[in-house]
Amino acid sequence: MVFDDKFSVAPMMDWTDSHCRYFHRLISSHAVLYTEMITADALIYGPREKLLSFNKEELPCVLQLGGNNPNKLSKAAKYGQDIGYSEINLNIGCPSNRVQNGSFGACLMESPKLVSECVRVIQENCQIPVTIKCRIGIDDMDDIKGLDNFVDQVSEIGTKLFIIHARKALLNGLSPKQNREVPPLNYPRVASLKKRRPDLKIIINGGIESIEQGNQLILNHNLDGFMIGREAYKNPYILSTVDRDVFSKNIKQSSRYEIAMEMANYIDNYMKKEVSNVHAVTRHMLGLYNSLPGAKEWRRILSENARFSKNGDILRLATDNIEDVIHRQNLNLA
Ligand SMILES: Cc1cc2nc3c(=O)[nH]c(=O)nc-3n(C[C@H](O)[C@H](O)[C@H](O)COP(=O)(O)O)c2cc1C
Repeated sequence: MVFDDKFSVAPMMDWTDSHCRYFHRLISSHAVLYTEMITADALIYGPREKLLSFNKEELPCVLQLGGNNPNKLSKAAKYGQDIGYSEINLNIGCPSNRVQNGSFGACLMESPKLVSECVRVIQENCQIPVTIKCRIGIDDMDDIKGLDNFVDQVSEIGTKLFIIHARKALLNGLSPKQNREVPPLNYPRVASLKKRRPDLKIIINGGIESIEQGNQLILNHNLDGFMIGREAYKNPYILSTVDRDVFSKNIKQSSRYEIAMEMANYIDNYMKKEVSNVHAVTRHMLGLYNSLPGAKEWRRILSENARFSKNGDILRLATDNIEDVIHRQNLNLA
């Protein structure tokens, strides 16, 4: 599947599961969506089908893998390719203790040879592209040479796309959450990498809060794309301008109401297939009406009731309620 990676929603553990991606896809037809990181071991020894299952509507969708064993990663990547994922991404940016104990994630920035070998073996076994997501460095790694050496070595083997979270990861003492906030953002470092290696596709990530800001960054620094994580999750309707403003596509933008109704239908279908609860889906939607009148009540209705619901009706109810509040407010303002 050929697609443009100018804009993507970041991989986020526990957040960007299949329900979340289905929801995001309703808001933007062209955004590239990522899975949560899945370890190669989990795919080889764990409930593979469940971990990999997705709706074809989510495509283009990138499977993000974690691990450091070339053969295992290659096996896991092949499973992903065979089931229909669009691309494989290696997580070389995660700073969590669990990941460090397994010697993968961000600490692999110090082992470009091993990362190259992982990419090489995956590429031998798979036809879909393999990309890297990393930081600008870790700990006291040299600010210039560290990232340059890593990218130079890994790109030699054929990886042409690097997503760079524009912060260092500090592997001692900071939690993953702190590691997304404390180390300062350094966009110029990503820009200088692109300047030095214009042959590579460089996607910038970290702290981007709007589509306009992302577009401006790629324009100013001649970058190939941008990736948004937290803001896209917490305020998902920002994705509604992506098709027009990033991909220059003239596609009708669905309203929040239309998206919520589609999700209610999705829930009805999903509940027929799986024994689960509506909250597993609606938890990703709580920001849909972010900062509009009635948003607090919308979140409350869903948070308090979705767990006990058997179909999408609770979402229809909450949505009718907030649309009514917005309508009345608009009448008063008129
Ligand atoms: C809850 C959460 C989970 C995350 N899980 C992953 C992950 O599985 N793989 C990964 O590469 N990055 C992960 N990240 C990092 C994001 O992909 C992204 O690089 C980071 O949040 C910076 O982008 P942002 O400022 O736009 O959120 C996670 C971030 C959050 C908030």
